[in-house]
Amino acid sequence: MPVISANFLITADGKVSTRTLTPSGFSATTDDHRRLKKLRAGADALLVGRRTVEVDDMTMGGAVTGHYPRRMVYSPTAALDPATRLLHTDGGPVHVICGDQVKAETADALTTWGVAIDRFPDPTDLRHVITQLAETYSLQKIHCEGGPGLFKLLCEHDLIDELHLTITNRIFGGHAAPTLTGNAAQPLLPASLQFELTHHQQIGDDVFLSYRRTR
Ligand SMILES: NC(=O)c1ccc[n+]([C@@H]2O[C@H](COP(=O)([O-])OP(=O)(O)OC[C@H]3O[C@@H](n4cnc5c(N)ncnc54)[C@H](OP(=O)(O)O)[C@@H]3O)[C@@H](O)[C@H]2O)c1
Repeated sequence: MPVISANFLITADGKVSTRTLTPSGFSATTDDHRRLKKLRAGADALLVGRRTVEVDDMTMGGAVTGHYPRRMVYSPTAALDPATRLLHTDGGPVHVICGDQVKAETADALTTWGVAIDRFPDPTDLRHVITQLAETYSLQKIHCEGGPGLFKLLCEHDLIDELHLTITNRIFGGHAAPTLTGNAAQPLLPASLQFELTHHQQIGDDVFLSYRRTR
């Protein structure tokens, strides 16, 4: 099983976005960006939820210290908009991880743009999905950049080994604004997960924290 890390920018009240799921650039400091690049540089693949790619207009493009991590979008229905900038920006190979019931025309619309389609009978069985992807593409390190829907699934399967948080000096409030694992309407995780703090650093009003999963 590859090592899986994740990073999030969160408010002082633990929110990753607002109740209307506005884009997450609420504190993109130079240091936060540098940290993100370092995390990407150590990864064979970047993993991100389809909604985050679209809402945050992500590209994950360009070389990261001379290497191009694969850009893997998690979307069981393969609903990724072919117009999304990710598909039109140079970078590592783009994959869509989806279910095997996705219609041929939906997949074809993405393969036209050079997307590799990775189909799974049950894409929510992330332990199986990750094992297969790691074997097929020789992935030793995967870095997840959210969002909460995908991160919660990874937590449900106890697949997070490292967690990196940037805490900003803002409060969003509201039960509908999502935390790392979704909003207050989401079902609970099957069990709580414990981590040990491995690094902390203050830069201006931001605090960077790194955790390692203790099992
Ligand atoms: N602050 C931060 O650091 C940060 C980081 C990332 C994202 N965000 C924010 O998070 C928001 C988006 O997060 P999100 O949770 O809505 O979406 P997401 O995690 O980016 O993507 C969720 C996708 O995964 C699939 N999915 C999620 N849960 C599933 C489940 N239980 N069963 C089956 N499929 C599932 C759906 O795929 P399909 O519908 O495509 O089939 C869905 O589009 C945005 O506002 C973004 O700005 C913030």
